[in-house]
Amino acid sequence: MPLGRRALLTGSAGTLAAATLPTRALAAPRDAEQSGLLHGLAPRDGLFERLPVEDPSRTLLALGWLFHEGDIVAPPPVTHDDTYGNAKAGNARGAAAMDYDDSDWAAVTLPHDWASAQGFVETANVAQGYRPRGIGWYRRTLRLDPADRGKRLELHFGAIATAATIWINGSIVARNFSGYNAIDIDLTPFARFGDELNVIAIRVDANAMEGWWYEGAGLYRHVWLSKRAPVSIATDGVHCDPRAGSDGRWSVPVTVALNSIAREMAAANLLVDLLDPAGKVVASARGQAQLPPLGEAEVTLSLPVADPQRWSIETPTLYTVRVTTDAPGGGDERRIAIGFRTIRFDAAQGFFLNDKAVKLKGVCLHQDHAGVGVAVPDALLAWRLQRMKDTGVNAIRCSHNAQADAFYQLCDRMGFVVMDENRVFNPAPENMAQLEWLVRAHRNHPSIILWSVFNEEPMQGTEAGVEMVRRMAAQVHALDDSRPVTAAMNGSFYDPKNVSSVVDVMGFNYYQGDYDKFHALNPAKPSTSSEDTSAFMTRGAYTTDKAAHVMSSMDDEAAPWGATHRDAWAEIAKRRFIAGGFVWTGFDYHGEPTPFTWPTIASFFGILDLCGFPKTAYDIHRAHWIDDRAVVGVAPHWTWPGREGQPIALLVTSNAERVRLVLNGRMIGEQAVDRIMGNRFTLPYAPGRLEAVALSGGREVARAVHETAGPAVALRLTPARRQMLGDNEDVVPVTIDAIDAKGRHVPTENRMTRFTIDGATLIGVGNGDSNSHESEKAPQRSLFNGLAQMLVQAGEGRGKVTIVASAEGLRPARLVIDRVAATPRAQVTVTPPGAFILGWRRSPSFATAPDPVLMPPVNDNNSWDFTRSGTPAVPEAGPSFRLYRAALPVRRRVVAEGGTLSFAQIEGRATVYVDGRQVAMKSDPTPAPLVVPVPAGAKGVAVLVEAVPGARSGITGAARLAPKG
Ligand code: GAL
Repeated sequence: MPLGRRALLTGSAGTLAAATLPTRALAAPRDAEQSGLLHGLAPRDGLFERLPVEDPSRTLLALGWLFHEGDIVAPPPVTHDDTYGNAKAGNARGAAAMDYDDSDWAAVTLPHDWASAQGFVETANVAQGYRPRGIGWYRRTLRLDPADRGKRLELHFGAIATAATIWINGSIVARNFSGYNAIDIDLTPFARFGDELNVIAIRVDANAMEGWWYEGAGLYRHVWLSKRAPVSIATDGVHCDPRAGSDGRWSVPVTVALNSIAREMAAANLLVDLLDPAGKVVASARGQAQLPPLGEAEVTLSLPVADPQRWSIETPTLYTVRVTTDAPGGGDERRIAIGFRTIRFDAAQGFFLNDKAVKLKGVCLHQDHAGVGVAVPDALLAWRLQRMKDTGVNAIRCSHNAQADAFYQLCDRMGFVVMDENRVFNPAPENMAQLEWLVRAHRNHPSIILWSVFNEEPMQGTEAGVEMVRRMAAQVHALDDSRPVTAAMNGSFYDPKNVSSVVDVMGFNYYQGDYDKFHALNPAKPSTSSEDTSAFMTRGAYTTDKAAHVMSSMDDEAAPWGATHRDAWAEIAKRRFIAGGFVWTGFDYHGEPTPFTWPTIASFFGILDLCGFPKTAYDIHRAHWIDDRAVVGVAPHWTWPGREGQPIALLVTSNAERVRLVLNGRMIGEQAVDRIMGNRFTLPYAPGRLEAVALSGGREVARAVHETAGPAVALRLTPARRQMLGDNEDVVPVTIDAIDAKGRHVPTENRMTRFTIDGATLIGVGNGDSNSHESEKAPQRSLFNGLAQMLVQAGEGRGKVTIVASAEGLRPARLVIDRVAATPRAQVTVTPPGAFILGWRRSPSFATAPDPVLMPPVNDNNSWDFTRSGTPAVPEAGPSFRLYRAALPVRRRVVAEGGTLSFAQIEGRATVYVDGRQVAMKSDPTPAPLVVPVPAGAKGVAVLVEAVPGARSGITGAARLAPKG
């Protein structure tokens, strides 16, 4: 958003008293990871632990999609017949039509964000990062087994960016306008089985914008197909959020929503088990429901639990609620992770988790990462969250929208508390439905502690705004009575009518100078910073150069409405009544390049850059937030050739008691730690070894080291993990840097590097430079202030991933990552698209063979039937002839070269004509397939079927067009 939008914060940067947090006598051993600029990026052992499946009826639908970039506009119908057909179910036209020729579309695997592959264009939207987004189409052919008949079939899209229209088999099934909420589609009534294939067609309009940041484009989250028994558990139909009674006893109230597509009244039996972390059943309950055909029922049970292990940030212990049903036609199951914890916001003392005061050390996060845009695979998401853990973060705000399912699962498992946030501020029914979805889908997650209904709305100080929030808050409370509602306000706090009066927790975006006044006027209202900081840093740069769009990482630069990292936290840390803070932002993100515009394409706000490389803010917040081990950081690096003898200002950050600065073995100075503002030292530059030693109780507890690097001689590759799963999905970020002759990281190197990869796929590259216009998909990337990143995605099976990086004038680097045998997650089978004749016109019955050129009269929609393949004509007493006519689906290759038309089955004798010329005969009346030649340029087909008296007849199998060969 534009600079100067907000009034200057009163009493902000510079005028704050240097608040100091208590320091601790930390006995932790020296943290090896803190040496050198790669701290926090050293390889870890272990593998990505795949997320458990809550709904076993779901299978991933990531493969077999076709994509077309750009819009395809179907010509409007002109004739009456076309117009009549256009208005009918199943008859979508153009790229939504079942028989559309998609043979030249690109094959893509989900998740997919087509905007992340775009170049940067000056006339494109600044907030979206100067990337044209546009319109795109996806199609997926899907074969359903005849054994799936009678099952409830559902498609689940994690989210689509942004406005999407979805067709199944030529009928519109959803018009979606949210780029962040999931879309569930019941495809059962539209389904076709066996050789009659199904076609999912999706038009995505990514010109629609819901935010002022990079939002991506396309099917960027997981898509699933679920096949459930006719009586089954509704999507998001289990509510099981534990409650502590006033007597200290716990219970898990479980509500299960069931639905039925059966044709008769059905009885369902329900078993609900509570499994402890070891998988042992510790409580069970049974229930029953009667479901009318196409009806619903809800069953409420309660599981008492004696003294469960608590879920906490440090020990995120999860139990599982397993719901199984048994009903005619089969059972269904859900396995939902839950956590036993209490939460409370206190107006005077902030936030309590399990009755323990916990300061929210939070970050706001958008979704995107370098190289992949918003299409972030689960393993990369887990790595991003681990980077937040490394920073000392304990709370995350989903700014300003719902995140992927995997995000909440990971927060539950890793121990973060979450402020979940609704995107569109509007209580109109279709938006309320979105809000309802958000709460229903997420309310079992122990990580979620707060629902935010909006972020910074101009109507926040109006009567209408109050009425809107009242309704939205009531809706949230009706669905979840356990968590408070907040709204992230940026002003209007004292307007006579403002929404702070109707939320449970006051959320301040910035305006830190108002904390005390608001609290004094509203002493009973709990409050938190919902957003703060908005400081600017370019990773690895230590001098601001506005002409070059570079911001110093010494924590001196902030937006006029914000504050530096240290100043912002100082305001939060010193007030108990402020539950905590949410730094804008944890990571840099594409778009919103404030305080610059073109050619800058990404933000400067992150504690980490776009790749997750640490800026100085990382060390600053580690000192603020980490309590269980000693940390120390020192900025800047110590490679400044040409600046010998000149003073260099240093910022040392630590959570220990004292810090000592040592240069080339000589003590420069020692200071008592200021845990919030850090400690400043200035010393003349002399190359060598600079050490910041943290001391507690007189002993060294941590040490950060920078050594002056010589000229780069070689590249180095450092993976985030030494192993990856051979499951086609796992992703390992790999850091590329240059080293000098002694193996020291060269923090000033900016050379272009190039990669080859074997055994894995490169899905994106980045370097954290918000001004770079290099492709994020090419197998090359310049180092930026010493670093670049590649994201490699595993191939399948056990083996080796070999990566070679090279750069002119440097020794190449070679890295081998072990690919460990792992069964890929099940995927819906890929079905090659078919070119089917979907509908036929069928003449009335004639006693003698009609002329094969006979046609239904123009505008006559009634004398000839409209039939689908597979619909036989009923047996007739005497001899009977019927003519079937259809247009051939247009396939460019068949039109050019000719092909074949295969009938899976014709019953009766038949003669086939293509454009009026006989091409084949079937003289045996028994049901059989028939393959006929189709000449180049052919348009229509007619089949004259002669029925045997008393037998059924017709085209009773699919008719499929294929090119020659
Ligand atoms: C806030 C807003 C964020 C982001 C930030 C930049 O006002 O909520 O989305 O725009 O400013 O400072």
